[in-house]
Amino acid sequence: MRTQVGIVGAGPAGLVLSHLLHLHGIESVVLENRSRQYVQERVRAGVLEQGTVDLLKETGVGARLEREGLVHYGVNLRFNKRTHRIDFADLTGGKAVTIYAQHEVVKDLTDARLAAGGQIFFEVEDTSIHDFDSSKPSAKPVIRFRKDGEPQELMCDLIAGCDGFHGVCRPSVPAGVLTTFDRVYPFGWLGILAEAAPSSEELIYAYHDRGFGLLSMRSPHLGRLYIQCKPDEDIANWPDEKIWRELHLRLETNDGWKLAEGPIIQKGVTGMRSFVVEPMQCGKLFLAGDAAHIVPPTGAKGLNLAVADVRVLARALAEYYSHGRRDLLDSYSQTCLRRVWKVQRFSWWMTSMLHRFEDENAFDHRRQLAELDYVTSSRAAAQTLAENYVGLPLE
Ligand code: FAD
Ligand code: PHB
Repeated sequence: MRTQVGIVGAGPAGLVLSHLLHLHGIESVVLENRSRQYVQERVRAGVLEQGTVDLLKETGVGARLEREGLVHYGVNLRFNKRTHRIDFADLTGGKAVTIYAQHEVVKDLTDARLAAGGQIFFEVEDTSIHDFDSSKPSAKPVIRFRKDGEPQELMCDLIAGCDGFHGVCRPSVPAGVLTTFDRVYPFGWLGILAEAAPSSEELIYAYHDRGFGLLSMRSPHLGRLYIQCKPDEDIANWPDEKIWRELHLRLETNDGWKLAEGPIIQKGVTGMRSFVVEPMQCGKLFLAGDAAHIVPPTGAKGLNLAVADVRVLARALAEYYSHGRRDLLDSYSQTCLRRVWKVQRFSWWMTSMLHRFEDENAFDHRRQLAELDYVTSSRAAAQTLAENYVGLPLE
């Protein structure tokens, strides 16, 4: 088998890339080790930046998103039992975020690719990548894998490593090429999906003595809520009543606001880290999305950053195939990393402001409250949060 671009991973990065390449007339094949059903049901992110939404709509995969997505023109910060709204529309000149689950984005993209005759191989096994290294400039990269037990080879001009944090592409880069920057946080998030009408029209990020709490949603009938927990928390220790009790405590206000409960239909614990590799490319291998960087979820940026990377990569590949220009491909990593680091900064800042750290003292606690007070009382500070939250400009 051969194609122009071999894409490893059918998450948001791999699927958006394949879709954009198709629009530029560039062939790709996507290899995914999970089943289609698994990928389309995996509960993950839910907040789409303005730029992500615009890109999906402009490229013809935004019809359901337009119908079903919940457009939010603001977000709330809650501390000392009071709620403070950050007004995106006012602070960013009319921009918004859209609540639409990551697995719905994946569904829409998969449907669009398959309808257009695109090739996505699900449930591939033993994926490995070869001959992409710049030490063999004339060699053609090859992706080896097994499908239905049979060994297969995909020859391609370039490989896009869109296989997430635990994928095979990044670890296949020869030792010494990549530099890693990371920070692991001493807490995780316990997240639930609940069949309950969200108790707020917009998201609420809460800072509380007992730790962070977040009220989000997936639809007018489905709530998505999180609490800060230990990084290795055993979900078995969290019966539903205990989760609700903790959510009530962390989200409570002094103005009579009530948190509505409902049956919990999914729950899990996610660890939190900040992680970047530099560069995001090695010879004919280009890393994108979680394969190259991870952000803690407090800024709701993971999926959006993956989309921003592949937008840069698709443009660079379009220039390469249509005009033989290599310069945009050569500067792929540099272009992406400028934005990646700004988003890392924002995600770290939101995380530091809103969580309790076990080694903090009373000074740190007061400082966090002062930071929240500043962000919610200074227009300049609120604007900084708003412009980052709705998404920094795409390159
Ligand atoms: P992924 O979505 O991870 O996609 C990579 C794909 O590659 C996967 O489908 C995987 O199965 C496949 N793959 C891996 N290895 C191989 C292989 N060897 N061969 C073939 N295929 C392979 N972000 C938020 O903003 N908010 C959240 O609430 C949130 N929750 C999250 C919860 C979890 C458990 C995780 C892991 C992430 C969460 N994120 C969240 C982050 C966000 O979902 C990611 O940033 C986003 O999925 C990145 O997209 P991606 O395409 O780069 O990677
Ligand atoms: C979500 O809805 O899953 C969500 C919202 C905001 C975040 C993280 C996750 O910061």
